[in-house]
Amino acid sequence: MNGQKYKGIIQKYRRFLPVSEKTPVITLNEGNTPLIYAGYLSGLVGKNCEVYLKYEGLNPTGSFKDRGMTLAISKACEAKATAVICASTGNTSASAAAYAAVAGIKCIVLIPGGAIALGKLSQALIHGAKVLAIKGNFDAALGLVKEITQAFPITLVNSINPYRIQGQKTASFEICDYLGDAPDFQIMPVGNAGNITAYWKGYKEYQSQALSKKLPVMLGFQAQGAAPIVRNKPILNPETIATAIRIGNPASWSSAIDARDESGGLIDLVSDTQILTAYKMLAEKEGIFAEPASAASIAGLLKLIKKGYFKKYNLNNKKFSIVCILTGHGLKDPERAIKTISPPKLMRADLKTIIKEIGY
Ligand code: F0G
Repeated sequence: MNGQKYKGIIQKYRRFLPVSEKTPVITLNEGNTPLIYAGYLSGLVGKNCEVYLKYEGLNPTGSFKDRGMTLAISKACEAKATAVICASTGNTSASAAAYAAVAGIKCIVLIPGGAIALGKLSQALIHGAKVLAIKGNFDAALGLVKEITQAFPITLVNSINPYRIQGQKTASFEICDYLGDAPDFQIMPVGNAGNITAYWKGYKEYQSQALSKKLPVMLGFQAQGAAPIVRNKPILNPETIATAIRIGNPASWSSAIDARDESGGLIDLVSDTQILTAYKMLAEKEGIFAEPASAASIAGLLKLIKKGYFKKYNLNNKKFSIVCILTGHGLKDPERAIKTISPPKLMRADLKTIIKEIGY
């Protein structure tokens, strides 16, 4: 960092981003998230494999959205916008609300009523966004904000805003910088499909500038009840406990397919049960609390291990690496954690009773 203090992804990766000296930098020091070695999961894949977890839940608002939002809001301010709007399953709204607050501009968010995690809703509200819960799902909300931004001078900050993708691609730069090259495989959840688009763009740019040698095989996972790309058709009523990826008609559908096909990867699905098993395993074995949508990465990894997908890589005795993206923090959705594990029973405040319960 040349003795400079870290000031977020725009400062760090300025030369890869569409900014100039005239662009005001609205930042919360997002990015620079840890890539954590996952010993337990590595052992499950095989002796030649290193699994890493890109813990995007450690961004300032608790999800990867901050990478794209710093750029989208900075560019909106450069264009003298006074208001931004987004549709969201929760994390985009939390991030947009926080960055709009820093910028001092208005933020409007449309969310599917009753279908976003409590932590995310509390964030959008406390940062002062105008939060509108609609009787409809994310796809309906996105349709509405597209229409609104066509008619009124409000900037759209969903990932169809290209600055969002530009900002989010910096996560792949960080992975390459840390590992010294791109990983062999990357596993991630897919919802509206902006993030898989962004990572793939980032990896290709780094390679084209000779800053990395390899390109990873991109492995995306949708939730079983919300898997339009896997099923090759929009899903009218998507359903999953992973509310962040409860999306039936992804905006970046075709670029997700490009990422999949150009990288020789796949986009598959995992059930809610598989997601919850992975969610619990991640917390219990690796000490990381990620939200259910993020656990889709781990559920995907477990599914691929079971299928023998990595067998041939294990056989040729060369080391290989897998990076799983953990897109959001577990604290975003505390209700899910408490529902997954039985809550503690209330006991008498009595030493004997407590010691007996502990098992001594
Ligand atoms: N993981 C989390 C935690 C998310 O919040 C999202 C998307 C995804 C994965 C999927 O990323 O849409 O780029 O494929 N959340 C959006 C939102 C839709 O409104 O917060 P994607």
